[in-house]
Amino acid sequence: MTERETEAAREHFDRWAPTYERDRAARRLREAQTTALAALNLQAQDVFLDLGCGTGAAVRDGAGAVKRAVGIDLSPGMIAEARTLSNGLRNAEFVLGDVSQDRLPFEDQEFTALLCSTAFHHFPQPSRTIGEMARVLAPGGRLVIADANADQLVVRLLDAVLRRFQPSHVGFRRPSRLVGELQAVGFQGTSVTTIWMGGYAIVRAVRAG
Ligand SMILES: C[S@@+](CC[C@H](N)C(=O)[O-])C[C@H]1O[C@@H](n2cnc3c(N)ncnc32)[C@H](O)[C@@H]1O
Repeated sequence: MTERETEAAREHFDRWAPTYERDRAARRLREAQTTALAALNLQAQDVFLDLGCGTGAAVRDGAGAVKRAVGIDLSPGMIAEARTLSNGLRNAEFVLGDVSQDRLPFEDQEFTALLCSTAFHHFPQPSRTIGEMARVLAPGGRLVIADANADQLVVRLLDAVLRRFQPSHVGFRRPSRLVGELQAVGFQGTSVTTIWMGGYAIVRAVRAG
């Protein structure tokens, strides 16, 4: 079943896709994505997955450092842009898919490094998606989820506004809640760092061996 938020996200990001990488707001998000990707500390042997990859900037950045880089996104427009912009990168691939469906279209333990930047707040089944992140990540694999930090009052106010007016918005989370959910499905070594005066959190975790 497709959630109402998911349909709204598809429409919203399809509209945004052609101009996303030139857009001022998205360029700010790109800074956060770069910081989040650095926290993943990609290595040559990694098989890297970006969930909610948008136009694939992190996949393009990561592809040079890893064995294989894969992006998945709900929006056909975003995936089309990602494929065009990554043209020529032999180890980058993009999959059209909804991460809130029952199963991600990947094998158990297929990846060793997983990123999700500024996308988690759109996912209508966050616990299910976290379970799937655990399934597709190999033991010892690293995960980084980066998003607005609901510990901050200003973010909670923004959350209330977006819940009311942006149909694709599901909700920002407190990092401590996310950490608890990750630990419940077998992640350990969790850490949280913040940027933008605490307004954006980068949660890192390692899949238990
Ligand atoms: C704000 S953009 C962020 C893109 C990129 N990760 C970044 O940091 O710039 C959010 C992305 O999440 C994707 N998205 C939203 N809901 C999704 C879902 N259920 N499954 C897969 N992707 C989804 C959107 O299509 C969009 O490309």
